[in-house]
Amino acid sequence: MDDQNEFAKAKERFERFGQGHVFQFWDTLDEGEKSNLLEQAGEIDLAELEGLVSSLVKSEGAHSETDYDALKPAPYEPLPNDIETDPRWQEAKAAGESALRAGRVAAFTVAGGQGTRLGYDGPKGTFPISPIQNKTLFQLFAEKVKAARVRYDCDIPWYIMTSQANHEATERFFRENDFFGLGASRVSFFRQGRMPAVDFDGKILLESKGSIAMSPDGHGGALRALERSGALSEMESRGIDLLSYFQVDNPHVQVVDPYFIGFHVLSGSSMSSKMLPKAYEKEKLGHFCIAGDHLEVVEYSDMPDELTALRDDSGKLTFIAGSVAIHTVSVGFIRELTSEGSSLSLPFHKAVKKIAHVDSEGTGVKPGEPNGVKFELFVFDALPFAGRPTIVETTRLGDFSPVKNAEGVDSEASCRADQQRLFADWLADVGVNVDRDADGVPVVPVEISPLFGYSLESFRESWGKGSRELDLSRPVYIE
Ligand code: UTP
Repeated sequence: MDDQNEFAKAKERFERFGQGHVFQFWDTLDEGEKSNLLEQAGEIDLAELEGLVSSLVKSEGAHSETDYDALKPAPYEPLPNDIETDPRWQEAKAAGESALRAGRVAAFTVAGGQGTRLGYDGPKGTFPISPIQNKTLFQLFAEKVKAARVRYDCDIPWYIMTSQANHEATERFFRENDFFGLGASRVSFFRQGRMPAVDFDGKILLESKGSIAMSPDGHGGALRALERSGALSEMESRGIDLLSYFQVDNPHVQVVDPYFIGFHVLSGSSMSSKMLPKAYEKEKLGHFCIAGDHLEVVEYSDMPDELTALRDDSGKLTFIAGSVAIHTVSVGFIRELTSEGSSLSLPFHKAVKKIAHVDSEGTGVKPGEPNGVKFELFVFDALPFAGRPTIVETTRLGDFSPVKNAEGVDSEASCRADQQRLFADWLADVGVNVDRDADGVPVVPVEISPLFGYSLESFRESWGKGSRELDLSRPVYIE
C-alpha cells in the first residue's frame, strides 16, 4: 500500500475515534516524516486507548478498586539463620541447580525504560558502575551469566528488552564489546511496545508536526513484547521454561539464583518474586499483599499511610515485604497471559507528566506543569493471575541497590558504596578484614569481578581454590 492510500485509511480510523488531529500537519510533512507518522499510527490500538481514556483519564481508574480494609501482608519464605544447613533452603537450591544444569533457565533484563531520573545520555545498561574498573551494568550482568554458565556447566541464554529509542544503541554496544564473550547467538534483543501520551481531554499529543508523543509501555509490556517478538516461541523451542527477570538498573542482582529458582520450581509457582524487609516505613518499595483470594503488589504511593505504618506487638512492620523487581516467571504462564483471547490482561496505570508537544498551531510547548498522561503496564500485575505465587526473602546487599537517581538515595554514589560493602563482607567471610569507614564502606576501594564470584557461595568457592596475598593499602581488584 502506498503512503497516500495508507494515510487515507489511517486518517479515517483516527477520525472515527476523535483523534483526526494527529494528521493535521500532513501536507507540510516531508516523505520521511510521513512514513514515520504512519508507522507510529499503525502501532496504536485506538479502541484500547479509548477505553483507557475513559477509565483512567476521565475517571479515577482501576487500581483504586483494592479493598484496603481487607488487605493482609503476603506470606513469604523467610531467610533461615543458616542457609547452609537449612534443609528447606538446601532442597530449593538443589532444585534450582538442577533446573539450571538442565538448561531450562534464561536470564531476562528489562532495559526499555527512559531513565529520566538518572539523566544519562545513552541506554542505562551502558552506564559505568563498578567501583574500580568502571564496568558497565551490562558488562556486570554478562559476567554473572558467564560465571553461572561455567558453574552449572550449562547454556544460559540472555534476553534483553529494549525500547524503540535505545534498541540500536544497545545492540551496537554489545557488538562493540563482542557480546562480552557470551556469543552473539546467546544474547537476544527485542523492542517493547509504545503507547501514545494524551492530554487531560484524552486527545493524543503530537511531539512534533510529524510525530506522535509516544513512550515505552512500561516493564509490564515485557510480557506482550516477549510474545510479539517471537522470543517466547524461541524459548519454547530451546526447552527454556523459566525466566529469571531483573531490571537493568540493579548491578547487585544475582542474575540467576538457584535458591530462588528452586523455590519457584518446588512450589509449582507460575510467577515468584524476591522480597526485602523494608528498611523503614516510607521506603519506596511496593508491598506484597494478599487481597481477597490473590496476591498482589500495592505500590508505595497507593498504600494508605495507616497501613504502611502498621506494626505488630514486637514493633515489626506488618506490611514489611517490599518488592525489588526480581522475579522467576514460567514461560508457560507468559504464553497463557498473552495468548489470543486470553482474559488475563494486565491493567494499564496512568502517569501524569509534563509532556512536551506542539499545539494546534504547530508551536512547540514545554509545559511547566503536568499537562497529560502516559500509560504503563507493570510486570508485577501478573502476580494476581499466577498460580501459587511464591515470595522469597533476600538480603539487601546480596540482591538490591538500584541506580535510579543522579544523586542521593539509589544513585551512582550509593550503589558504588553498596557494592564495596558487599565485597568487604565477602572478604570478611573468608577471614580478610578491610578497614571501613563509619558507614561500613571500605576505606581503600575494593572490587570483585563476577567472574571470580557473583554471590557469597561462588566467591567462597573461587577463594578456596588457591591462596592469595592481598595488598590492602591499595585498591583491591579480585578477578
Ligand atoms: P523505572 O521504573 O525505574 O523507570 O524502570 P525508568 O524509565 O528506567 O526510569 P525513570 O523513571 O524514567 O527515571 C525500572 C526498570 O524497568 C525498565 C527499566 O529499564 C528498568 O530496568 N522499564 C521501565 C522498561 O523496560 N520499560 C519501561 O517502559 C519502563
